Amino acid sequence: MFDEPGFAGRHDLEPDAVMLETFVYCSRAAEGVDAAEVSRLVEFSQARNVVRDITGVLVFGSGVFFQWIEGPPAEVRSLIANLHGDSRHNDIVTLDRSVEVRERLYPHWEMEQVAADDIRAVLEDALETAEDQSNIAALQRILGHLASGPLATVGRN
Ligand SMILES: Cc1cc2nc3c(=O)[nH]c(=O)nc-3n(C[C@H](O)[C@H](O)[C@H](O)COP(=O)(O)O)c2cc1C
Repeated sequence: MFDEPGFAGRHDLEPDAVMLETFVYCSRAAEGVDAAEVSRLVEFSQARNVVRDITGVLVFGSGVFFQWIEGPPAEVRSLIANLHGDSRHNDIVTLDRSVEVRERLYPHWEMEQVAADDIRAVLEDALETAEDQSNIAALQRILGHLASGPLATVGRN
């Protein structure tokens, strides 16, 4: 009876909440990776992420990447494996990783590139509108990292 059409399951109550894996990390760009290379990378990633149903944000500044990735667990895991083998960056530091039923934070961004100076504002905006407790907790952790970690200097010369 539960799979009869019209049954008011969890999906009807929270239509945008789905099983998502989230991976947030920072890394150091390899020698020779400049803004033009990052633009090409973003263009490629947007095309691939549409196919993989992955959304998120990529920040590049002062030779450091920060990326928020969210999507179906199998797709995100395969992307994580790719990222670890990608010679365009090194020293990947995981800032947050989780698998949960929740709403996407960036449902309309296949991989938006955000200026390093704006990343705090982007995350704070997301925190203001977030209703999902897991999202709120993750954003608070990341903002904590931003205040104290290596990313505190991203965008500053
Ligand atoms: C900083 C950084 C961010 C990346 N972000 C993505 C991404 O969001 N999506 C993606 O498909 N590839 C991304 N890549 C590229 C992957 O490492 C890898 O080249 C790509 O996933 C291979 O895709 P394919 O399996 O379709 O060949 C990124 C690479 C770097 C260095």
